Amino acid sequence: MLVFRLVLGYYLRPFVKRQNIAKNPVVIKAVVKQRYLSDLKRVLDMARQRLIAGNWKMNGSSDSIKELLAGIHGDLDPSWKSAVLVCAPAVYLPLVSDLVAESKVAMGAQNLSEQASGAYTGEISGAMLADIKAQFVLVGHSERRSLYGESSEVVADKYNAALENGLKPVLCIGETLEEREAGTTMEVVKAQIDAVINQYGIEAIAKGVIAYEPVWAIGTGKTATPEQAQGVHAEIRAHLAQFDAQVAEETQILYGGSMNPTNAEQLLAQADIDGGLIGGASLKAEQFIAICKAAG
Ligand code: PGA
Repeated sequence: MLVFRLVLGYYLRPFVKRQNIAKNPVVIKAVVKQRYLSDLKRVLDMARQRLIAGNWKMNGSSDSIKELLAGIHGDLDPSWKSAVLVCAPAVYLPLVSDLVAESKVAMGAQNLSEQASGAYTGEISGAMLADIKAQFVLVGHSERRSLYGESSEVVADKYNAALENGLKPVLCIGETLEEREAGTTMEVVKAQIDAVINQYGIEAIAKGVIAYEPVWAIGTGKTATPEQAQGVHAEIRAHLAQFDAQVAEETQILYGGSMNPTNAEQLLAQADIDGGLIGGASLKAEQFIAICKAAG
């Protein structure tokens, strides 16, 4: 019956659009059916797609990137539903753009300037990244925060600069070991998220991706347990829900920090973990592919 109603609603859609006869019972019925349709679509849209993102950091050469992407393309199964992304060093983005042009692999940068253009020697703007067909950009990776002094306010401006140029920002957040041991994990990650929300609103969060990466797990071989990671992801989602329930439900929250083929399946099985941001294991095609496979 529902299917019949949906089909009916679908076929009456142009009619409803053309006629503005609010009192006509046929139109009213069609509008009701239309509501069924959009509700159904909303429910379907709410299922969050998984995203497996490689962060190559400052690694690679033209040759090694060609080899890595050939390996990834060779074993990427088109039936896997997860989205796949590689974030390359800026100078190799044009090369990567050519190599992924016909594939399902998306391309991202690892950083961008918060400024639009001008006298900022050495910086790369969001417009430049969009110009060379980047689709994503990491912002606020812990290495940028700790080694290059990026404050949460600067990270928020970078996040906004990405959005203004049609790029999808991946907002990296996470606590240090000291902060975890002091019991301030949630305080820290909420403040990192709130820096964006306070400046640019919850709508900005809706247009990006969050990557929770406990600093103590990055590049150390120490992974958060699936329960530890899930706990933080669930609290992040609950925090977003205080601003907007739909945004909370729809935002992809990735886990990052020593994700590898051995632990990926269990981490990705958690209800609030929607993918991974992978450093070391993204540099080896077979390991990266094994994680993509675990994501399905
Ligand atoms: P890792 O890095 O997987 O090597 O721990 C993750 C990251 O820094 O994004």
